[in-house]
Amino acid sequence: MDTQLARLSRGASPQEDSFAGNLLAGLSKTPKEIACKYFYDESGSRLFDAICDLPEYYQTRTEMALLSRHAAEIAALMGEGVEIVEFGAGSLRKVRILLDAACNPRAYTPLDISGDYLCNVVRSLAADYPALTLRPLVGDFTLPLEIPTLPGPMRRAGFFPGSTIGNFKPDAAMALLRRMRSTLNGGGLLVGVDLVKDPVRLHAAYNDAAGVTALFNKNLLARANRELGADFDPEGFAHYAPYNAAAHRIEMYLVSLKRQSVSLCGQRFDFAQGEPVHTEDSHKYTMESFREMAARAGFNPRAVWTDQDRLFSLHWLESR
Ligand SMILES: C[S@@+](CC[C@H](N)C(=O)[O-])C[C@H]1O[C@@H](n2cnc3c(N)ncnc32)[C@H](O)[C@@H]1O
Repeated sequence: MDTQLARLSRGASPQEDSFAGNLLAGLSKTPKEIACKYFYDESGSRLFDAICDLPEYYQTRTEMALLSRHAAEIAALMGEGVEIVEFGAGSLRKVRILLDAACNPRAYTPLDISGDYLCNVVRSLAADYPALTLRPLVGDFTLPLEIPTLPGPMRRAGFFPGSTIGNFKPDAAMALLRRMRSTLNGGGLLVGVDLVKDPVRLHAAYNDAAGVTALFNKNLLARANRELGADFDPEGFAHYAPYNAAAHRIEMYLVSLKRQSVSLCGQRFDFAQGEPVHTEDSHKYTMESFREMAARAGFNPRAVWTDQDRLFSLHWLESR
């Protein structure tokens, strides 16, 4: 079994596509911003796993319960001998439920931007599923993406859990779904989508009492210090994550607690006291609004499952 990580070739220029390039461009804008995909180096991925176990973070346990409850139905929809392609695979915890239910899965292809972390979690999956062909890929699913096909006839099914789709503004989310549809060569896509709900519950999920989400947010600054020799003072910034009810999204910021300047790759960036740096959006959908968007992206939305409190939803989309 070959579990070596492959790196997908990149379509964008290094300037657009690197952490340094994104930081230099994003901190030169008004308002300042950093792309959320850069949360995920090895520390960021571990912090995200810790978030998933927090009592306030209902998303992971609700989605795992939905996957377990409907695993047989999902396996039947995916079909026999399927290659499961997971976008933004993270800890690989959720796919185990699908692999256990699937009928003779042909291969599992987890794709993630966080290469060192992916390497570790794939090793432990390989030990638990010795007969499975594993094809881990390090890459960015927002860039043009061609996953090499396996020899012979094959059927792919995509898996995109964790409401990662919510990190994209609706137009970008639709473009991403379209790109995934073409990567799947006619196969279906199972997507986990967080639902619009009581703002108090949403606010708590992104502002946990233990401060883990704050550490995750500030990991962007710590990562810039580690990798790029920047001199951010993470204590000089506060985690701020309000719910924007009109836009149905949590917005995440790092807010400068004082007037300060930071040097990064030979450039100096000034921050006013109270100045925000936008780091993430997490859009919430209704089941209907997500199905409409998926249809506009070229899918036929089929089965949808939710929990009794309507916190989270799982959508099976067929390519058309
Ligand atoms: C919200 S987490 C979800 C993790 C996991 N799928 C789950 O459901 O718990 C987002 C995951 O997507 C990965 N990711 C984020 N942006 C990405 C990108 N542009 N390309 C590839 N992976 C990305 C992150 O490294 C992280 O593992």
